[in-house]
Amino acid sequence: MKSSNRNIVILAAGKSVRMCSKVPKVLHSIGGKMILQHVVDTALSVKKISDIYLVCHEENRFLKKIFFNKKIKLIFQKHQLGTGYALRKVMHYFDDGSDIIVLYGDVPLISKETIERLILSKDGSVISLLTAFVKDPNGYGRILRKNGEVVKIIEDIEICQDEWKIKEVYSGIFIANTYFLKKWVHLINNENIQKEYRLTDIVALASEERCKISTIYPMESIEIHGINNLFQLMNLEKHYQERQAKKLLLSGLMISDISRFDLRGKIKYGKDVYIDNDVMIVGKVILGNDVYIGSGCILKDCTISENSIIHPYTIIENSIVSKDCTVGPFTYLRNNSVLKERSEVGNFVEIKNTIFGSHSKAKHLSYLGDSTVGSHVNIGAGVITCNYDGANKFQTHIEDNVFIGSDSQLVAPITIQKNATIGAGTTLTRDVKENDLVISRIRQKHIKNWKGTLKK
Ligand code: UD1
Ligand code: CA
Repeated sequence: MKSSNRNIVILAAGKSVRMCSKVPKVLHSIGGKMILQHVVDTALSVKKISDIYLVCHEENRFLKKIFFNKKIKLIFQKHQLGTGYALRKVMHYFDDGSDIIVLYGDVPLISKETIERLILSKDGSVISLLTAFVKDPNGYGRILRKNGEVVKIIEDIEICQDEWKIKEVYSGIFIANTYFLKKWVHLINNENIQKEYRLTDIVALASEERCKISTIYPMESIEIHGINNLFQLMNLEKHYQERQAKKLLLSGLMISDISRFDLRGKIKYGKDVYIDNDVMIVGKVILGNDVYIGSGCILKDCTISENSIIHPYTIIENSIVSKDCTVGPFTYLRNNSVLKERSEVGNFVEIKNTIFGSHSKAKHLSYLGDSTVGSHVNIGAGVITCNYDGANKFQTHIEDNVFIGSDSQLVAPITIQKNATIGAGTTLTRDVKENDLVISRIRQKHIKNWKGTLKK
């Protein structure tokens, strides 16, 4: 069925040779989000667009599951013969009277505002191009003008002597009338160094036909930066992170150093939250009022409630820290764990799939897995739950006010009832009753004048 009015085509089927990676460039990430997803999300946000046509390579058919939206049509390109060839594949979907906006899947920071300005700029012309002045024009097509009018795009690989001076580059992004575009894409040939059908050749064709070619600049030149190699990917990531951090600072999140903060997802935060250097936020993270996150922490899909302190180098994944808790340094909290109010967990403590009660403490060198821990419990240094027998996992239940002495092993399944005390170095294999003291180590022996073993 033909689409009318205004459609967006995103070209994302290229070879990605310059990335030197098995993964196509549009599937790499910026800020934890797939490069192509950035472009698709922006395209979806543009007003008055009929449909979005996504041209992907045949081998990436799985993208159908990712871009599952009735506005998005996936078209698969088998032969990677160039951007002009890629656009040819979709032209028959569009009415001659409509407009087509072309975006490149490897130019992820293009903004909705710039696309909407590009749409307005076409008024009265057949085609309007997004161009920019960038510090380093290497790799981009250059805009050749005569008497101020655009006449041609010269690809980087074909630049001659004088053309090195041209600083205006092409973003790959344009809007054009479908009737003319259909004609031009079929006139493009591959008689060039790369033997590719280049979409940029339509500009010379438009100029030869004396069609009016308009141009606009983006709000920020970073919007047109393409990703063709890992160096460009790294640079864009850095810029993206700094831009995010600046936005967060301006809306009240205290970040100690804008260049040492990584957000790969979404963050919600209260008032007076402080984030020290080198913290990484991944997925969906919620931080309550007055939360402190020490340097080097990784927080992934978790909630830290008000007044809690997360000391340096702590990793928290899929877990909840309630208010007024102290965690870390070097704590690992994961797999649906919950620390209840005012609990304290210290260095080299790993907590997995465990509810850890209010006012309870595990301050050094412990592993608590598949457990429930009541309130006011003390877990001594080196205590571990033996939750795995090599085949299955078992639960440990520790009730309120239990004291577990250092270096004890709790062999699950096991329950320790409230107010019990476990002596240091105990290996617990049976349940413990309320108020009991259990010690399983041997009595201390003293042998007088022990000589030790002599070296032969
Ligand atoms: C292109 C432009 C260049 C511009 C630059 C901006 C051409 C010929 N040149 O160069 O003028 O300055 O972008 O970033 O267009 N693709 C397909 N099918 C193909 C080939 C490419 O879908 O057969 C897609 C790629 O996945 C990519 C986009 O088209 O998303 C651009 O292709 P790429 O090879 O990166 O072009 P550049 O060399 O960057
Ligand atoms: Ca590119």
